[in-house]
Amino acid sequence: MTVKPIKGFSKLTKEAKTEWLIDNYFENPEEALELLKSYWHFDSNIQKLHDEFIENTLTNYYMPFGVAPNFLINNKLYCLPMAIEESSVVAAMAKSGSYWLERGGFKATVIATKKIGHVHFVWRGSDANDLHKYFARIKPALIEETNDITRNMTARGGGILDIELIDKSDLEPNYYQIKGTFDTQDSMGANFINTVLEKWSEIFEQYITTAEELKAEDRKIEVIMCILSNYTPECLVRAEVTCPVDQLTAGTDMDSQTFVDNFVRALHVAEIEPYRAVTHNKGIMNGVDALIIATGNDFRAIEASVHAFAAKDGQYKSLSHVSVENGQFTFYLELPLSLGTVGGITSLHPMVKFSNELLGNPNSRELMQIVAVAGLAQNFSALRSLTTTGIQKGHMKMHLMNILNQFEATLEEKAAIINTFKDRVPSYSLAVEEFCKLRGITKEEFAASRS
Ligand code: MEV
Repeated sequence: MTVKPIKGFSKLTKEAKTEWLIDNYFENPEEALELLKSYWHFDSNIQKLHDEFIENTLTNYYMPFGVAPNFLINNKLYCLPMAIEESSVVAAMAKSGSYWLERGGFKATVIATKKIGHVHFVWRGSDANDLHKYFARIKPALIEETNDITRNMTARGGGILDIELIDKSDLEPNYYQIKGTFDTQDSMGANFINTVLEKWSEIFEQYITTAEELKAEDRKIEVIMCILSNYTPECLVRAEVTCPVDQLTAGTDMDSQTFVDNFVRALHVAEIEPYRAVTHNKGIMNGVDALIIATGNDFRAIEASVHAFAAKDGQYKSLSHVSVENGQFTFYLELPLSLGTVGGITSLHPMVKFSNELLGNPNSRELMQIVAVAGLAQNFSALRSLTTTGIQKGHMKMHLMNILNQFEATLEEKAAIINTFKDRVPSYSLAVEEFCKLRGITKEEFAASRS
């Protein structure tokens, strides 16, 4: 099909957009339309809400929502909401929750909650000292003239913590920044920070035209952009578990000390080998992202921040760490997590409200702790499997259901095939074998039926 570009798509009605799409891109438009409609919410108010979250909404995209109970965090028991599509993640999380429940639970601490934003600008003057003098004089105005924007946030205990002028002209000619440090309390704060930054750039641009500290020809700036930074190394939370080495069970006949030695070595590999570190940290993010999505937070921002943090020393490394001292095993991580429990879609998305209620309506600090624990728990489960049975046993067991669903196996067939993998690791080809045996067909007939 050759599709022509379309003008004014966003202004079309939902029906017209859908019609254009299915007529231009699908072999069977009726089937495509039926599919899109089958994912509409039966409650038109909820559908309208979803329609209005983004532009050009046509339908909804489902993701499984599961829970992992038995998470003891700072002596409080939680059941964690998780929105994720990967088969084995929730099972691994739940296992870790129960494992550490028997060993004292998780401890988590918020280290700091500062967020950063910049007005990036060009100033072509010759003496940066003059710019610093001008900045020092107008700094109070930058705070006072944003009072209207910051009043509510300040009343809630947050607001502007600091404003600095940063000279970056050694990296890019004439490049400077107004760097703002903020506390946004329970909101993620992107809109708050960006609004303040844009106001600062206006004030700065306006006042500089009459700045007596500067030569007449230097009384102007060119604003490049005003934007918060999603890198939040000072919005940091730590999660840890600890117990005597001899209380650690491997889940196999491996003894505690061997398990710990393997675990420590695996951690060390992730510290020194970036190829492994990325996969290791991906496993942490399995837990983090599932909670971030369930609680309506911005997983792209969190991913970007966390990976920058993992590379803060100049090499990409493991986000988690382990120590064994005097027979005591301690496993911990620190994550830069800028999260909101108010604002955004938190009060709109019904499942986000459900997740937050399930967590006891935490404030952002408590949510940071819960999410960091989710990352640590997930990482523990992955490393425990990797260093003992291997990952495929558990992973393929969970994935087997997806494979059988692809085969369109009946309930009875699924139960029978799952039973054949009770004591061995499933794979796609083994599942095909079992399926063919059960249906009494050849592999060729199976392949033909699926093409
Ligand atoms: C799979 O989604 C995650 C793991 O690869 C993480 C890890 O290797 O640590 C199992």
